[in-house]
Amino acid sequence: MTEKFDVKLEGKTFFPDPSLREHMRMGDYELAYNEFLKDPEAYWEKVAEELTWINKWDKICEWDHPHARWFINSKLNITQNCLDRHVQSGKKNKVALIWVGEGGEEKILTYRQLHREVMRFAAGLKSLGVKKGDAVCIYMPLVPEQIIVALACARIGAIHSIVFAGFGTRALNSRIRDSAAKIVVTADATIRRGKRVELKAIVEEAVVNAPSVDKIVVLRRTKPPMELYSEIEVDYYDVLKDVSECEAEVMDAEDPLFILYTSGTTGPAKGIVHTCAGYMVGTYYTTQNVFDLRDNDVFWCTADPGWITGHSYIIYGPLLAGGTILITESTPDYPDPGVWWNIIDDFDVTIFYTAPTAIRMFMRMGEDWPRKYDLSSLRILGSVGETLNPETFEWYYRVIGKERCPILDTWWQTETGMHMITTLAGQPMKPGFVGKPLPGVVADVVDNNGDPVPPGKGGFLVIKEPWPSMMRTVRNNEERYRQYWSTIGKYYTAGDLAVKDDDGYIMILGRSDDVLIVAGHNIGSAEVESALVSNEAVAEAAVIGKPDPLKGEIIKAFIILRKGYSPSDKLRSELIYHVRMSLGPIAMPSEVEFVESLPKTRSGKIMRRVLRAKELGMDPGDVSTLEE
Ligand code: WTA
Repeated sequence: MTEKFDVKLEGKTFFPDPSLREHMRMGDYELAYNEFLKDPEAYWEKVAEELTWINKWDKICEWDHPHARWFINSKLNITQNCLDRHVQSGKKNKVALIWVGEGGEEKILTYRQLHREVMRFAAGLKSLGVKKGDAVCIYMPLVPEQIIVALACARIGAIHSIVFAGFGTRALNSRIRDSAAKIVVTADATIRRGKRVELKAIVEEAVVNAPSVDKIVVLRRTKPPMELYSEIEVDYYDVLKDVSECEAEVMDAEDPLFILYTSGTTGPAKGIVHTCAGYMVGTYYTTQNVFDLRDNDVFWCTADPGWITGHSYIIYGPLLAGGTILITESTPDYPDPGVWWNIIDDFDVTIFYTAPTAIRMFMRMGEDWPRKYDLSSLRILGSVGETLNPETFEWYYRVIGKERCPILDTWWQTETGMHMITTLAGQPMKPGFVGKPLPGVVADVVDNNGDPVPPGKGGFLVIKEPWPSMMRTVRNNEERYRQYWSTIGKYYTAGDLAVKDDDGYIMILGRSDDVLIVAGHNIGSAEVESALVSNEAVAEAAVIGKPDPLKGEIIKAFIILRKGYSPSDKLRSELIYHVRMSLGPIAMPSEVEFVESLPKTRSGKIMRRVLRAKELGMDPGDVSTLEE
């Protein structure tokens, strides 16, 4: 099946200034990769040695396919490494976090202040009865408290499950239930494009039928404060305890640190479980060596902590490395498309990490906007989440990086925890290609049998060896976890199609399954379909992704109506609204088509591939399993 993915590989190569390599921690890719190959365990041990441990490991790795354990029997607390370590080593007054609100408000926390706030909320969580191993759901806007709460959970060994505040009731409810969260921490509202978006109201609905929830903690941001009605609601500031110390819980290397839900091919979202030691080492390693984070950097990752990018490269990686992070609640085009460039100018941001969707939006707005601001503080640009196509790469490189900043197109996943494939700063850059596996990562492009395919032939992207920050399981679904490691030989199957060139550079061609990547966010077709079917008018639904110049993909839904309902524009809008309310705006179909039937296999499975081919005027491929 992979032949149809043969691709033309020739394109431009950008050669960065040779002096760049000398300045980078990992300036020599080959040297580092060979060092890793020579002794993988020693390679990772050296990284781990740079961090603080309560007790060190007996052994680096135990690999019992498909289960890996890393830094065996070591004891640690990740927050000691993110906070205490810096507070104790002269960085007390260094800025840890800069927050910019939509109206330009600012909050700045030093390491000392962040440390204190984390301990105060951690002590508060304890007083609410939260214990090591309990799950806490965080459904908050991008404010400092979102990060404080996550770190407070890690401080006491509670497992955080951050749900992006753009998700709707149904998505939140299923995540709360699956994780059996004891506490939900939320805010009254978030501000988006000048409008108030209520969050607590969504939580109130989402906790119905969620018996695990004892308390809802509400950060009340607006004045006068919104009333707290039910007994289970408590005010954020009443939870904070006036303590000057809240001891970090002693965590075993393999104790879970967090659950993060990501969309799957079938059924509801999967709760990806990450553990303490391996995740810490992986995110620290990549922040140091991919972003090359330095003491005087201001690091801005534009993701939300509700996604893995925010977990690894807003919260954990940069704080482990003792960096200054910048976050903003503002959207890139409100009140005008200059707001983000203004932030870079104002705060002298040095490392900027965003998604191709955002860059494509800026391209549309024109070069005049970024040109109004001084972007000369930038030294490294990053991209993540979807393919950075050559035109977008070149614009980003020329207009934002002034042909001076290397662009790191980083490929990785919720499941991998850390960057896996990229082109390190200083290496030749090939737009369209993410680059080579990082030292520490053994990745390849293979056929159905797991045999490597020659350069230029499309195949499946796999990871052949375990790595420290790999997910450990899928919550409540060990079977699903095993599938990752048993679909193609004994390799980890990423679910992406890819191709390599003669130099070993990897290009990502898209998903091999029914996961849609809309504006850089993973959306499971199954999740959208089940939201649609939960509407009384819908008998059956099938959802596909359609290429879109701005968002990468948009969602198109095909609907069979129940008896008694007939197609109309009004119903179409109602269905779109229904998905918006249940899953959130990111999962909203852009197009809805009413149909009489859907292509199915004889066993009754909808063949989305056939629908998609028909929609795009492509060859549907093998249709032998298609029902009449
Ligand atoms: C896609 C996000 C092309 C890919 C960190 C992957 C990418 C999925 C890139 C994971 C990239 C991520 N180029 N595609 N640089 N980075 N993807 O779990 O399909 O939200 O499997 O993690 O996003 O999305 P997730």
